[in-house]
Amino acid sequence: MKPTTYFCIFAVAALHGCGGDTGTPAVARPGPDPWSSALSVARATDLNPDPRVVEVNLDTRMGDWQIAPGQRVRAMMYNGGVPGPLIEARVGDTLVVHFTNHLEEPTTIHWHGLRVPADMDGAPRSQSPVPPGGSFEYRFTLTDAGTFWYHPHMNEARQMELGLYGAIVVHSPDEPTADVEGTLVLDDVLLGDDGQIAPPGDLLEIHSGRDSGLQVINGHAGQTLAMRAGQRQRWHIVNAGSARFYRLALAGHRFTVLGTDGGRLPTPRVVDELFLVPGDRFDVMVDAVAAPGTRAMLSNLRYDRGHGAGVFSTQDVLQVAYTADAALPMLAAPTVTRDLPALSTEGVTPREVHFSERVDKTTQTVTFMIDNAAWPDVPVARARLGQTQVWDLVNESEMDHPFHLHGFYFQIVSRNGVAEPTPSWEDTANLRGRERMRIVFRPDDRPGSWMYHCHILEHVDHGMMGELMVER
Ligand code: C2O
Ligand code: CU
Repeated sequence: MKPTTYFCIFAVAALHGCGGDTGTPAVARPGPDPWSSALSVARATDLNPDPRVVEVNLDTRMGDWQIAPGQRVRAMMYNGGVPGPLIEARVGDTLVVHFTNHLEEPTTIHWHGLRVPADMDGAPRSQSPVPPGGSFEYRFTLTDAGTFWYHPHMNEARQMELGLYGAIVVHSPDEPTADVEGTLVLDDVLLGDDGQIAPPGDLLEIHSGRDSGLQVINGHAGQTLAMRAGQRQRWHIVNAGSARFYRLALAGHRFTVLGTDGGRLPTPRVVDELFLVPGDRFDVMVDAVAAPGTRAMLSNLRYDRGHGAGVFSTQDVLQVAYTADAALPMLAAPTVTRDLPALSTEGVTPREVHFSERVDKTTQTVTFMIDNAAWPDVPVARARLGQTQVWDLVNESEMDHPFHLHGFYFQIVSRNGVAEPTPSWEDTANLRGRERMRIVFRPDDRPGSWMYHCHILEHVDHGMMGELMVER
């Protein structure tokens, strides 16, 4: 069932031993505490005894979501929870998902960030919707280690706002040491006057994306995370919000970024803030540098998305409470590395992709466009298998659009002509208002139809999506 604050404090205390230990703590650090410690998310049950196959049942159905103490809302759920169960596996494993749709409307599952075959991608043009009462078997190999997530690719603004999303963590054989490991799935929810999740809103909401006051982490508002002084926690963070941008900062602490969307960075990077647009992920280490018994707030700092779209003001996201236990000795900085050379763009003619919007005040409609057309009329982009793609994403609007590409990881080459300092593999990246961002990727396997779109859900629902056809 749903986690409580007590549960996670208890689990952390249980792992490291609490109570009378006031001397130098015994340095038994058995490696990451199971997923249940940090704001527990139920794990999907693996039905397959083969250690290289993870086989799970997933279903969608309506249910009651306990979003805050004493507050329940009608929701759409995977396996009766929000978020859906955590799917955990190792790189190279086969994932088999037996999916059944018990909703009264069609849906699909898209595996955001996993490099799956096109017919497993759960997206328009690659899979027919699973009708009410219908089922589908997803089966593919997990080719990359990292933090990913799953969600529907139909009626996104509604189905995801109502609770359909879940995290996926794929481990690598050389995981760095941590004491506690957990997923933090971030979301925000707009409640109407009746206390239920509000139905889709007006022109302003469609334009700016849903801006909701209620912050939830792993399905609950007002959460507390327990930490022991000296401990190292590893957080897999997913932004599942409709339109919420996060600039996360934990007072008095820094983050060591191990990886982003497509797995590890070349070397870990120490930062004060984490910036996540809708769809983004981070894999970070947090060292507990404060004193036993103290508290720190994980905040979402102010962010201006550009003229006309509004400013997100600073909000509290998660309370971090140190236990009274004596401090553990700090661990040395993680040293994991990854060979990640920059893809060459030489000899490739860039393709320009334009992002724009059109507001019609008389009809009270807004259309978000790619290359001057709205999905499904956006001209298909074609690429040959193995041919390097350089795309210049040109934002003709004032507001940010978080760009997401299905199927392939890209590297950001430059923003407004300024080269990016270090290469990383991304599938989601912010395209700032009026910005020109150059990306490079190589569709060298898995031909077929792949979507690319803005990950503000109201924008994808109102046209800002195109199709990349990769041909042999
Ligand atoms: Cu997370 Cu096409 O989506
Ligand atoms: Cu957008």
